[in-house]
Amino acid sequence: MNMAEEIKRKTAEIDAIIESFMPEEEDYQATVIDAMKYSIASGGKRIRPLLMSETYKMFGGEGEGVEYFMAAIEMIHTYSLVHDDLPCMDDDEYRRGRKTTHTVYGENMAVLAGDALLNYAAETALGALDSDIDPARIGKAMRVLFNKSGINGMIGGQTADVEAENKEPSEVTEDLIEYIHVNKTAALIEASMMIGGILAGADTIQVNTLERIARNVGIAFQIQDDILDVTGDFKELGKPIGSDERNHKVTYVSLHGLEQSKADVEALSKEATILLHTLEAENPFLEQLLLGMIDRKK
Ligand code: IPE
Ligand code: IPE
Ligand code: MG
Ligand code: MG
Ligand code: MG
Repeated sequence: MNMAEEIKRKTAEIDAIIESFMPEEEDYQATVIDAMKYSIASGGKRIRPLLMSETYKMFGGEGEGVEYFMAAIEMIHTYSLVHDDLPCMDDDEYRRGRKTTHTVYGENMAVLAGDALLNYAAETALGALDSDIDPARIGKAMRVLFNKSGINGMIGGQTADVEAENKEPSEVTEDLIEYIHVNKTAALIEASMMIGGILAGADTIQVNTLERIARNVGIAFQIQDDILDVTGDFKELGKPIGSDERNHKVTYVSLHGLEQSKADVEALSKEATILLHTLEAENPFLEQLLLGMIDRKK
């Protein structure tokens, strides 16, 4: 299996799926729809929908039902980025290789486009009721999606992240950094894998294991994001280097140094694959994908 080729092919498929769910610009609200489409347009790695669809397949899921949720989670992730880049947040000018949404459309439209993506994610996910997936599974998946993206998930993590900027270094404890990573980043990765499992009919114990796997993956993913904020290449990454330092963020890297951070990304990713093996279902592509994330450059 040529991983790079496979990832490229699958990502292109996901791009097409997401695009197929986006609304048409039609009336006086055309600008906000245009801004939604601009922010979601390709350039993102689509790692969350990819993890979701691979977990769905791993548990025997078939057909298009999962696609509504794949699009929905990418909409929620994208809204989190649009708001994360605002001047009142991380104040960044580039994302996914182009100007950030507020830079192009203004702050008012960027706030609205983020709101609109969140709302449209709910509408889109509920479209799965038109598929042949059991509505009870869709209900469970909705609960996970909105729990993990809310106050006890992504929004909670972003809140702690923003507040940590004004703290003395001594106040930014190991516990706080872990809370931030688990919530701002791992939560949506957990939702991706859990929803893939839930929609395919995985049982509660299996879904709990998926949550644990994804927590490791998600924490590793954010540590690597912090590493790339120091060592990355702007062209490859598509977003600015040094944003964390400029914003006085205490990151995993500033706390533990680059070498330790790299070692921890590797250990967490390997732990995730060990847990993956405890499940009866198998997906060699998924395993390779998790291992490949250890030295991702974007
Ligand atoms: C960036 O997410 C924000 C984090 C949670 C670390 P990604 O690295 O998945 O960004 P895209 O979607 O590929 O642009
Ligand atoms: C943001 O973390 C995570 C989100 C929930 C958006 P970062 O602020 O580190 O993400 P980047 O580096 O801007 O993508
Ligand atoms: Mg941020
Ligand atoms: Mg940021
Ligand atoms: Mg970052």
